[in-house]
Amino acid sequence: MKTKLAVVLLFSGSLVYGQQQTKTLTTNAGAPVADNQDSLTTGNDGPVLLQDLHLIDKLQTFDRERIPERVVHARGVGAHGFFVSYGDESQYTKADFLNAKDKQTPVFVRFSTVMNPTGSAETGTRDPRGFAVKFYTQQGNYDIVGINQPVFFIRDAIKFPDFVHAMKPSPVTNRQDQTRQWDFLSLEKESTNMMTYMYLDSGTPLNNRQMDGWGVHAFRWVNAQGKVVYVKYKWTSMQGYLNTNPRTLAAALLKDPQEATDDLYREIGKGNFPSWELSVQIATPEQLAKLDFDPFDDTKIWPESIFPQTKIGKMTLNKMPDNYFQDTEQAAFAPGNLVPGIEPSPDRMLQGRLFSYLDTQRYRIGPNFQQLPINRPISPVNSYNQNGHMDTRETHGDYNYQPNRAQNTMGENPAFDYSPVELGATTVHQPIRIKDEYRQAGELYRSASKADQDDLIANLVHDLSQVTNPDITLEMVSHFYKADKQYGTRVAEGLHIDVQQVVERAAKL
Ligand code: HEM
Repeated sequence: MKTKLAVVLLFSGSLVYGQQQTKTLTTNAGAPVADNQDSLTTGNDGPVLLQDLHLIDKLQTFDRERIPERVVHARGVGAHGFFVSYGDESQYTKADFLNAKDKQTPVFVRFSTVMNPTGSAETGTRDPRGFAVKFYTQQGNYDIVGINQPVFFIRDAIKFPDFVHAMKPSPVTNRQDQTRQWDFLSLEKESTNMMTYMYLDSGTPLNNRQMDGWGVHAFRWVNAQGKVVYVKYKWTSMQGYLNTNPRTLAAALLKDPQEATDDLYREIGKGNFPSWELSVQIATPEQLAKLDFDPFDDTKIWPESIFPQTKIGKMTLNKMPDNYFQDTEQAAFAPGNLVPGIEPSPDRMLQGRLFSYLDTQRYRIGPNFQQLPINRPISPVNSYNQNGHMDTRETHGDYNYQPNRAQNTMGENPAFDYSPVELGATTVHQPIRIKDEYRQAGELYRSASKADQDDLIANLVHDLSQVTNPDITLEMVSHFYKADKQYGTRVAEGLHIDVQQVVERAAKL
């Protein structure tokens, strides 16, 4: 007899190893497990038997625990909560969840860093923070998949894979490399505005509760009469703002490299529920047509002096997931999850994103990812789509096609069609008409306080001084110079670059 049997107790009809228990372990197939401590062997000294089905079941399950991490935004933290609308927005949109005052809609939110893998540090990472919100509305899931910055680096989805390749670790060394990153960015003038946002201290938030979020793109809101306006979304933190800066970074990193995750578990655990107000900038098509820049260029903001923020509701996060993998890891946010009354704008990044997320999620999670509890709409899903890995959707007897002669059959409803867009254009491969690469970056620099400008310069000099190719540095500094002469001059001086060289390069840009 083995010595362990000395501590075996009989409890509730089950054998117990050294502890009390109320339930018998089972295999995945529900059969009771006799021994979870020792494999079944051929005698004490012999090999393990293939017929130890519990061992095989356990190892096979373990061997398949990982799914691919998100290709970007791999490290994240999620929370459940609810959104309450402040008023009735039906004059602008027929979106159901915005059509009455005090209407409550459940949400799931995931905050993330972008370029680093799961398990990487969050504190001090100069990276946008993902700010993705899934609204479980009565007419399907609506996702605002935004970030903590109002603009983006590039404006056309065709460049996104190149952008990510340059920002991610080198394919040779598997290390992120400032030279590769700035090589790409310096050749993409449009990134000047975003890089200015990124290198302000707000580019390194300390946690997720104390930061704002933006939808970045413009979206089309359509009311029941078919009238169209365009909107941009902003989430304003009711907790204020907290960033690291060059003086606090080292201590913050030492204290907790994953403070953003820990902070959310800690504060929500204490019942200190964070909230954000959602506001929109609303613009008519006629107002947008008069702007001297492209309103659908995601490297630009819409000035609040022309388009003020209108508050439309408040989101509160009040529960951390019971299981990280099932909720946070398997959550599938997509800009293509739209509801009646909210439609895409022609923003070229948004258009690419409409496709990319729902595509990657079929690969990352599996073809029926929308049936998982975290992704499943609370409104009915009526479709004749079928089968694929892990299908559990409702079926409709013999009818898996449409049209059909079934009683209470399902069919389309033209009332939910996209609003018509008049185009009358010829297909082209061309950049947007008005690029205006530098103006907003200059305005942003000039609007920053002296202290923020000083940190912006220090942050840029810190990273640009690691670039090994001087031509890349010169080109990038020249972009900052084009945005604002003082801005470029200060970065040049910090890097000990001859300002005259910068002036000459800037003249050629
Ligand atoms: C064409 C440009 C873009 C493409 C192709 C793209 C693609 C992707 C992909 C493939 C994922 C992983 C999704 C998943 O596995 O579930 C992702 C995640 C994400 N992206 Fe993008 N992205 C683009 C631009 C942007 C922009 C402009 C923003 C912000 C305005 C953004 C915000 C996010 C966020 C927040 C997540 C994480 C969502 C989550 O928490 O699960 N992306 N993106």
